[in-house]
Amino acid sequence: MTTSDPAAMPTADRTLTDRVLRSFDAAPSPRLREVMQSLVGHLHAFASDVRLTEEEWAAAVSFLTRAGQISDDKRQELILLSDVLGLSMLVVGINHPVSAAATASTVVGPFFVEDAPAFANGDDISGGAGGQRCFYSGRILSAAGEPIPGAAIDVWHSDEAGNYDVQYADLDGAQGRGRLRSAADGRYWFSSVLPVPYPIPHDGPVGELLAAAARDSMRPAHVHFRVSAPGYATLTTHVFAAGDPYLGCDAVFGEKESLVRTFVRHDPGPAPDGRVLDVPFCTMEFDFVLDADSV
Ligand code: BEZ
Ligand code: FE
Repeated sequence: MTTSDPAAMPTADRTLTDRVLRSFDAAPSPRLREVMQSLVGHLHAFASDVRLTEEEWAAAVSFLTRAGQISDDKRQELILLSDVLGLSMLVVGINHPVSAAATASTVVGPFFVEDAPAFANGDDISGGAGGQRCFYSGRILSAAGEPIPGAAIDVWHSDEAGNYDVQYADLDGAQGRGRLRSAADGRYWFSSVLPVPYPIPHDGPVGELLAAAARDSMRPAHVHFRVSAPGYATLTTHVFAAGDPYLGCDAVFGEKESLVRTFVRHDPGPAPDGRVLDVPFCTMEFDFVLDADSV
């Protein structure tokens, strides 16, 4: 049984836990006091529960040290650890509750870029990325179903190799990434390429943990969206491709059923942009529903 109740611990440990808890009593910030006392309570209960050995304690310290050492401004192994432990999704859920009508939120992930290049509706945002052409469209709506014009829509996704543009050291411009604005009727439309499933970075300590647990490092194919408009809560989400073999086992637990859509496959022929394509292509339609800003 797992419990954070100090009463369930041996007396000597309980005295220690009580003393550590009390050491935060005078913290000037009530929030720091609350967070640290809860953390200490759970941490001590956890170590007692599993009878943590000194070797295991040392291995955990080494793991966290190596996770810090491999991190830099491009790679954040500790966020990745939070992702594979489901903590990132838990924090998203706590901080971005949505009404029943609104689109669900999910993790932002490490490949978001603040200043993505601007595009107009109808543009090709692939930037030359490899992959099957896909035409994306939909509307930005309020929870009452009204169109939201002028919403900023950030889009980013992988190429056919499962890489994001920022993962290529020698790339000049953005690929599979851009910022659009919804039209007067709330609509957006653009083309790019089809994303594919890809592994999260697994050549570091987090990869070792996944391997030791016989866990997969794959994420199901998805396109990231961040939608913001004045007066509305910003939505950070993905659209997942129906039928993906990794649905149900997303390495970072970011998937939600309501975010899965069919990427419809079309034979060569007339495409939504008016051209006649001599290769197969896809279409994907998704309406994003934003809650009103609560602040
Ligand atoms: C992503 O979808 O881009 C992502 C999210 C969490 C960890 C790694 C990648
Ligand atoms: Fe992603």
